[in-house]
Amino acid sequence: MTAFNAAPYDVVGIGFGPSNLALAIALQEQGAARGHHYRALFLDKQQDYRWHGNTLVNQSELQISFLKDLVTLRNPTSPYSFVNYLREEGRLVDFINLGTFYPCRMEFNDYLRWVAERFASQAAYGHTVTAVEPVAGANGIDTLRVHSVDAQGREQQQLTRSVVLSTGGTPRIPQQFAHLRGDARVFHHAQYLERMAQQPCTRHEPMRIAVVGGGQSAAEAFIDLNDSYPSVQVDMILRAAVLKPADDSPFVNDIFSPAYTDLVFNEPDSEREQLIAEFQNTNYSVVDLGLIERIYGIFYRQKVARQARHGFLCRRHIERGEASAEGIELTLRDTATGDIHRQRYDLVILATGYERTSHRQLLAPLLESLGDLSVGRDYRVQAAPQLKAAVYLQGFSQASHGLSDTLLSVLPARAEEIATSLFEYWQAGARQPQALARQTA
Ligand SMILES: Cc1cc2nc3c(=O)[nH]c(=O)nc-3n(C[C@H](O)[C@H](O)[C@H](O)COP(=O)(O)OP(=O)(O)OC[C@H]3O[C@@H](n4cnc5c(N)ncnc54)[C@H](O)[C@@H]3O)c2cc1C
Ligand SMILES: NC(=O)c1ccc[n+]([C@@H]2O[C@H](COP(=O)([O-])OP(=O)(O)OC[C@H]3O[C@@H](n4cnc5c(N)ncnc54)[C@H](OP(=O)(O)O)[C@@H]3O)[C@@H](O)[C@H]2O)c1
Repeated sequence: MTAFNAAPYDVVGIGFGPSNLALAIALQEQGAARGHHYRALFLDKQQDYRWHGNTLVNQSELQISFLKDLVTLRNPTSPYSFVNYLREEGRLVDFINLGTFYPCRMEFNDYLRWVAERFASQAAYGHTVTAVEPVAGANGIDTLRVHSVDAQGREQQQLTRSVVLSTGGTPRIPQQFAHLRGDARVFHHAQYLERMAQQPCTRHEPMRIAVVGGGQSAAEAFIDLNDSYPSVQVDMILRAAVLKPADDSPFVNDIFSPAYTDLVFNEPDSEREQLIAEFQNTNYSVVDLGLIERIYGIFYRQKVARQARHGFLCRRHIERGEASAEGIELTLRDTATGDIHRQRYDLVILATGYERTSHRQLLAPLLESLGDLSVGRDYRVQAAPQLKAAVYLQGFSQASHGLSDTLLSVLPARAEEIATSLFEYWQAGARQPQALARQTA
């Protein structure tokens, strides 16, 4: 259990997902090398360490090489590598025998938890941060007050000289479903496992389920529903004409290298936008090819058996979602023919992706000093002269730093860059960021 400090921390990390976990390691490494003692606290709203815990279905695999763990790209000799985790867990030989670069996500979650346990003294779970506020000092705002609410609903406050905000994505709820937020029959894929555990199909009762979306989450939900619940009929409902494969070919994968961040950041705005748009199909609205082939196989076998259990409803725009006692009725328009079709479902799963907006809400009290949240190359938000305390963002700078920003790809390098910037800031005392700034996503 972490004891809170009355004196200001040197840094408070908001969220303790992979980004801030990588930062905790980089700070420890640099602190030891520089002989600099610092006080860090990481707050996470979850009760314990989980990496997208409600999406960890059996078949889900890491979409990146395990060598892109929290440290290896920067320091392959670090004790926090995935390989060292395997060795300590007694599975190194077995993992080698598997012959894969892509462990299941349950195992990578276990690795991340294993690292998080080693930083337990710096972590406080069950703390939802609600706002970061300026605290005025003699020479300007050199301290920040981080407000949070604990699991018992008690408000807490921590003072700090700097904040690293790494709160990840927020489930995107399409506006057609906004009015159904309180309805237990409609939920986002981010809640998949806990919500499915409550459904009648766990007792083998028939259910008709809609999965909305055509990305990796939708594909994984479809496969899990097909494999785990023989009594369900699933309709995949997507706007696109087909499921498209994620491009993870070797030349394209170069865009996820740490060196590529410099190239993207230094491009003029219009070129950078074009670069990011050109490679959207590495990450968004795309599915791992092997999974597409499995799904195609399931629909093909239905045709052979002349038993249409599941539906593949592509080119469909959802006009409306309406709740009644009998279920959720979706009004679907075929975008090719204009035909309208209504269908009732027992459950609607929204695999509709994520938005990156929580930084704006949490930093709202600071926006007067932080302006449009432009970040420097070192991920520090450029601030007006009165704000001396440092604010950094991880995972909100895709528009300036490239497509790797929301992924695991550059975590070791980014963590090192932020740690270096923080130590320089602490050593120099409060000062303004010098780096050229760019606007965030
Ligand atoms: C299902 C899924 C699978 C993915 N798989 C891969 C993959 O295989 N490879 C890859 O490169 N990327 C993958 N990604 C992308 C993902 O963004 C990164 O893997 C990684 O999780 C980013 O780490 P993060 O710490 O920035 O954000 P997150 O992992 O989202 O962590 C954010 C943390 O902040 C906490 N938090 C949020 N708000 C608050 C608050 N107000 N107060 C306190 N705590 C808060 C959350 O509880 C969470 O622990 C996946 C994403 C999803 C949704
Ligand atoms: N195994 C894994 O590692 C794993 C598993 C799951 C997710 N992930 C990662 O998580 C990230 C997000 O993936 P994701 O699949 O959740 O999201 P995504 O790739 O952003 O896909 C979202 C899907 O929802 C659709 N959509 C969005 N708004 C909609 C609306 N209003 N109406 C209808 N459809 C709508 C999109 O359609 P359009 O295409 O028409 O916009 C798209 O098909 C990616 O980085 C992915 O790789 C990884």
